[in-house]
Amino acid sequence: PKIAVFASGNGSNFQAIADAIQEGRLNAEIALVVTDKPEAFVVERARRLGIKSFSFIPAQYDSKQLYEEMLKEKLVEHKVEWLILAGFMRLIGPVLLEAFENRIINIHPSVLPAFPGKDAIGQTLASGAERAGVTVHYVDAGMDTGSIISQQSFPVAGRGREAVEEEIHKLEHELYPATLQKLFHQPVKTKDLYDSMQG
Ligand code: GRF
Repeated sequence: PKIAVFASGNGSNFQAIADAIQEGRLNAEIALVVTDKPEAFVVERARRLGIKSFSFIPAQYDSKQLYEEMLKEKLVEHKVEWLILAGFMRLIGPVLLEAFENRIINIHPSVLPAFPGKDAIGQTLASGAERAGVTVHYVDAGMDTGSIISQQSFPVAGRGREAVEEEIHKLEHELYPATLQKLFHQPVKTKDLYDSMQG
C-alpha cells in the first residue's frame, strides 16, 4: 500500500521503515513524509532517500481542523492509504481520524497502557518499573490510547537512561516494519495479530 510517514524529529523510525522497504522486508511505498517541523532531521533523511516530504507549520492555520483538511487533500492527492506516525508530536483530530478510519498507526516507547504521552522512557525509569518496551497501536482521539497491535518488552535491570533508550530504539526499528508488514498483508484480527507477535 501507499503510506505517509508522519514525524516531528530525528526520523530513525522513518529510516527503519524505508530500509525495510528497500530490503524487501516490507511491501509498501512511502508516498510522502509529513512533518510539522520543517527543520526536523527527518526532512533531510527523506531528501537523501529521494522520498517526497511535505512540511507545514500548524501555527499558520487558524485551527487543527483547517490544517487537517489541507493535509487530507495532500494525502488524497498522493493516493495515501495508511498514515504511519513515527515520532509525530501532535494528536490526530477528527478530520484525519474519519478520513483514515482504522488506518492510522503509531509507535510508542512504553508498554502501553502504562506511560502514555511525552517522555515515556523517562516515565518508565522514574516509576522504577522492572520492564521497558515498545508498543505499536491503532490511533484514536486519545493520547496513545488506541488498541494495541504488537508489543515487546525487556528487563530494565538497573540500567541507565542511555542504555535503555538505545535498546528501545533498536526494538522499535525491528518491531515497526515487521508489524506493518503483517498488518498490511495478513488479513487477521487485531487480537490474533497481537498473539502472534508474542510468540
Ligand atoms: C520514538 O521513540 C517513537 O516511539 C516515539 O517518538 C520517537 C521517535 O523517534 N513516538 P524517531 O524520530 O523515529 O527517531
